Amino acid sequence: MSQSLSFIAQPSRTVSGDIIVPGDKSVSHRSIMFGSLAQGTTHITGFLPGDDCLATMNVFKSMGVTIDGPDENQNVTVYGKGLHGLSKPKDTLNIGNSGTSIRLLSGILAGQTFSSSMIGDNSLNKRPMKRVIDPLRLMGASISAKDDGTPPVICDEQKEQLNAINYVLPMASAQVKSCVLLAGMYANGTTSVIEPGITRDHTERMLTAFGYPVNVEKNIDGDEHKTKISIKGGHQLTACDIQVPGDISSATFFMVAGLIAKSGELIIRNVGMNPTRIGAINILQAMQGDLTVINKRMAGGEPIADIIVKASSLKGIDIAASDVPLAIDEFPAIFIAAACAKGVTRLRGAEELRVKESDRIQAMADGLNILGIECVVFDDGIDITGGCIGSGVINSHDDHRIAMSFAISSLKATGNITILDCDNVATSFPNFIKLANHVGLSILQK
Ligand code: S3P
Repeated sequence: MSQSLSFIAQPSRTVSGDIIVPGDKSVSHRSIMFGSLAQGTTHITGFLPGDDCLATMNVFKSMGVTIDGPDENQNVTVYGKGLHGLSKPKDTLNIGNSGTSIRLLSGILAGQTFSSSMIGDNSLNKRPMKRVIDPLRLMGASISAKDDGTPPVICDEQKEQLNAINYVLPMASAQVKSCVLLAGMYANGTTSVIEPGITRDHTERMLTAFGYPVNVEKNIDGDEHKTKISIKGGHQLTACDIQVPGDISSATFFMVAGLIAKSGELIIRNVGMNPTRIGAINILQAMQGDLTVINKRMAGGEPIADIIVKASSLKGIDIAASDVPLAIDEFPAIFIAAACAKGVTRLRGAEELRVKESDRIQAMADGLNILGIECVVFDDGIDITGGCIGSGVINSHDDHRIAMSFAISSLKATGNITILDCDNVATSFPNFIKLANHVGLSILQK
């Protein structure tokens, strides 16, 4: 794919309207994976038609699964093959930009009786895979990556059943947790994962929705953030209907846009409000952002709600450590809120940001510096002093969330902001520009 799309974001003032954002990326990936491994036919509504989730879909198609859609209403039908029904792919599986896909698939492929290999795009091929390879090897899987732990990820055919393990996650990662739990479905005995901090629990919820028993024990060692999740091999997944909620990560760009705008009121509907994902709302409210959550309800096993956003005067804060894993994908947008706030915003304990689609601490600090915002960078965080956003040319490092964050910063800019290499916005938010311009921003694509 040529990486040549630029955004030219012109200053604007008002953000208003009534919008819905596309489906949740984490839930969309999992709906294809679980649907493919289930017995029966799974119907998915609200699927995210972004490049990442389409890559996951193509991977399962190349392992013999029939999948229809997404149609114009984002409905998808998956004709499941059962846990042992996948067939050996002819070629290396191309995972594109998706860390979630390659890491969860590692757990699934490690349990198969055929060999396989996975590669990604330039960004994914630089990301760490040792974090999934280590526990899978402890389970007896024959899986490897390059010496530096980056893709390709190669799985040999599994001659013996995987062994169940008790695994204490070295970092708070839902991808690693999910990888081990998925491999645990193929293991002999009960596999347990202990997470050191709360991470998104879509895998546990979806296992339950597909009728696969999973045991969740909270408050391990008296620590409210420590959870033990256990799964026993040998059960089946049974097809079901999945309603994908709107992605709170995508909604966050519009929450921040609505808050930093000079004026206006925006309503964002059907946003996923899973308690493991609401860190951005907590943080933006602590910054005195006028966000109101209304119409809380359940949809397909996940809580959803509508969010009203009003233009606000934001204040810098020390971000609570407990909100860090709950807002891990939202920090680029939150950094823009911090750049527009009065005073200093301090983030620590967020070293995971360095190994996302880009090094998001450095990429954001470099871009903010170009726009005249003062930042001090730490290994695990950043201090951002709010100020006046100028203009300039920003390198997105091919990272969708960096590109969209600087696009919304134009609401406060004194001149045009040009953002380079924005093609990957299509991985998570294909209609971002259309929606942004619809609510009052002014962004051209070149
Ligand atoms: C995800 C988990 C998070 C998140 C990613 C999606 C998932 O990654 O950043 O965008 O769907 O499980 P980590 O597990 O690396 O924290």
